[in-house]
Amino acid sequence: MSAVIQGKRVLSGMRPTGALHLGNYHGALRNWVELQYQFECYFFIADWHALTTGYEDTAGLPQAIREVVIDWLAAGLNPGVATLFVQSHVPEHAELHLLLSMITPLGWLERVPTYKDQQEQLKEKDLATYGFLGYPLLQSADILLYRAAVVPVGEDQAAHVEVTREIARRFNHLYGREPDFEQKAERAIKELGGRNITLYRQLRRKFQETGDQMAVERARALVESNTRITVADRERLLGYLEGSYVSILTEPHALLTATPKVPGLDGRKMSKSYGNTIGMREDPDSVASKLKTMQTDPARVRRTDPGDPEKCPVWDLHKLYSDDKTRQWVNENCRTAGIGCLDCKKPLIERVIEEVTGMRKRAQEFQENPELLANILVEGSEKAREVARATLDDVRRAMHLRPQ
Ligand code: TRP
Ligand code: SF4
Repeated sequence: MSAVIQGKRVLSGMRPTGALHLGNYHGALRNWVELQYQFECYFFIADWHALTTGYEDTAGLPQAIREVVIDWLAAGLNPGVATLFVQSHVPEHAELHLLLSMITPLGWLERVPTYKDQQEQLKEKDLATYGFLGYPLLQSADILLYRAAVVPVGEDQAAHVEVTREIARRFNHLYGREPDFEQKAERAIKELGGRNITLYRQLRRKFQETGDQMAVERARALVESNTRITVADRERLLGYLEGSYVSILTEPHALLTATPKVPGLDGRKMSKSYGNTIGMREDPDSVASKLKTMQTDPARVRRTDPGDPEKCPVWDLHKLYSDDKTRQWVNENCRTAGIGCLDCKKPLIERVIEEVTGMRKRAQEFQENPELLANILVEGSEKAREVARATLDDVRRAMHLRPQ
């Protein structure tokens, strides 16, 4: 609720990669679950993004989407609190992408680090397509459509949020000009009423004179939470903070998720492409047998060889799953060969099984009832569309394209 008052919207997306693993859970999802209670959250399946690198075989998409959504619900995302939807169910993403493509210099897209990186990493795929080059812009459209202030992403995605900020600024410069802007903005300030008039002026002056980010954030929150002013005045007041144009699109901030290290079974980062994962809904026997054969400190060949937890991927899992007492027990007895690796893994296996069992339970009703799942997405898409339509109306108006 407080988030709604602050007017901060959070948005993030995930590609439909199929059933998620513990790396996805600890790396992103767990954080989303927390955010949903603090902010007005929009989370979506980026199915069009999946096409940018996998356009040839799309037959598996519907199933992959269902699996991801089930995992979201299993992790504790609550459709009564957060809005969950599928990108392609909200065609407004495509229209905004098209309009933004008109004003985006090619160089901006070519310079996005993931463009060249991914082309090199995914050599077997033909990524010399228009869609692939435009993929960060599609992401910008995703974000700007909801006027999201905060975008939780991994570090690899930070550059995309940065481009989004540049595009928002460019759009506002191009289409946010209006005659007599300053007079209109000054008039709008008075509409804020009471103390807020002075407060807005003080914060604006502070930001303009000293570049104080806190001041501009506070002023933005003040404007966004005001329910008495019109949309047009809100955009003027937001734009007036930084310049002399109307702020039609909101510049987002990346919220870099503090990502714990989640090693896969072979000790490399847990990743579907390495085939070293434990699924969020893996069955308990399989969890146990996978962990039993998980890579340990390579120096511990025999039971009597002492080990070093710092060189052992199992230790990284203990950091995620075990309490202080267990960790201390591992730390001491690994170094002295007081316990064997199987002893060490035992409490870990119990904790992981406990976690996946909880997720499996929560997933069950959605697996058994596909209609329930479909309804969640229909409702989510409808809610998302309302917000998307409102933004797009403003965008069309600013560009002198008639709203429908
Ligand atoms: N590009 C992101 C990824 O590959 C997914 C994504 C698409 C996204 N649109 C987004 C993330 C908007 C955050 C905001 O993981
Ligand atoms: Fe790793 Fe535990 Fe074996 Fe030490 S005892 S090497 S921490 S699995």
